[in-house]
Amino acid sequence: MSTFEYIASPSDGELAPLAEIESVAFGSPAAEVAQWFAVAGREHVRAVALRGQVVAGLIVIPMGQFFGGRRVAMTGIAGVAVAPEARGQGAALWLMSQVARELHTAGVGISTLYPATNTLYRKAGWELAGSHYSIEIDARSVGVREGGGVLTTIADADRAAMHALYADVARTRSGYLDRGPYVWSRVETPRGRIARGTLVSYDGASEGYLYLLQNPLPGGTYDLAITDLCAKTPRAARRLLSFLADHRSMAETLRLKGGPIDPLLWHLPEKSAKVRLFEHWMLRLCNVEAALAQRGYTPGMSARLELELEDDMLPEQAGRYTLEVTAGRGQVTRGGSGALRVGARGLAALFTGFQSARSLARAGMLTGDDASLDLASGVFASEAPVLPDFF
Ligand SMILES: CC(C)(COP(=O)(O)OP(=O)(O)OC[C@H]1O[C@@H](n2cnc3c(N)ncnc32)[C@H](O)[C@@H]1OP(=O)(O)O)[C@@H](O)C(=O)NCCC(=O)NCCS
Repeated sequence: MSTFEYIASPSDGELAPLAEIESVAFGSPAAEVAQWFAVAGREHVRAVALRGQVVAGLIVIPMGQFFGGRRVAMTGIAGVAVAPEARGQGAALWLMSQVARELHTAGVGISTLYPATNTLYRKAGWELAGSHYSIEIDARSVGVREGGGVLTTIADADRAAMHALYADVARTRSGYLDRGPYVWSRVETPRGRIARGTLVSYDGASEGYLYLLQNPLPGGTYDLAITDLCAKTPRAARRLLSFLADHRSMAETLRLKGGPIDPLLWHLPEKSAKVRLFEHWMLRLCNVEAALAQRGYTPGMSARLELELEDDMLPEQAGRYTLEVTAGRGQVTRGGSGALRVGARGLAALFTGFQSARSLARAGMLTGDDASLDLASGVFASEAPVLPDFF
């Protein structure tokens, strides 16, 4: 039996040793960790104590993630850390199991994280479910000239409209976040720096924006780190690319995060973008019923998928489910034939559309007859799930 103790919302006396553990685990100065906790909020810190001593912790980040055009309640996980002296005793795995159970009970459908190691999270039921690419463009070879529109610096008064613009675009991208304050702070004030925001409007309505940081280079020039770029229309995308190109007398490289074929890149006339896989992210279905009912499905498709879930870490949600899809929505009931047998990990990779049921079956992640495999592949099919935000 475990002797670990789960602490939600730690006291000052518990937060201080955890800050030290995080600082050692990630090689970050203590001041940065304190700032991190402040942005996340103490109520979103979780700690583990062993014999009265804090030995591990993490941060939970409540937000949403879009799949099939709809928002699924999602809790991001960051900063998983165990004191070096307490490692190798199952503290991290126990902590992940507690978080999964907490989210299940709260009805939070999914949880997403960026793994430093896959083994730990796989044991807890998370699986690779999407990607995060880095995109580099030589500022001198953007090759887009687009005038028109009005460019303005983003002011406080613009923020609500800009966040709405982001949500409009994000909803149409598989895996994008419905951001909360934690992720917006990484866009607008990353690590305490202030990113310069520029909005492009036409006839008084904003159609796109971007946020920029200048990173100086030894020769006096600089790289531009784009912490966010959002364009609702083709003309806004081209106008923002043109705006970036207007920095080319001093800027060397434009750096941003996105997907393997980011929509922005359609506007580049030449092969000026270098797109590299940065990391895969992992996802867990913490509350299967909520997750399947909240995500969207292809409108016009009607399907009835009967599956049997194995979930050793959350046995309360193991068992048979029937998913009825009509008019873009899914209805979930317990029971059915369980024709598609899948573990929590296989379901995660299927749920986001990261892998088809056929491919997962080939990898030994699920089993089913041909009809169930083809049906499941169709139900969850989407463009490659992508998450440009890091947390
Ligand atoms: C990664 C870390 C959290 C693991 O903590 P821990 O308490 O030692 O992990 P656990 O004892 O619960 O390990 C659970 C399982 O994951 C495996 N595992 C843990 N760390 C691993 C690693 N770095 N690489 C591969 N497998 C690992 C363990 O071997 C164990 O599997 P096993 O039972 O088959 O041996 C800890 O090493 C740490 O704090 N590292 C620095 C910060 C970090 O990398 N955090 C992760 C950020 S996403």
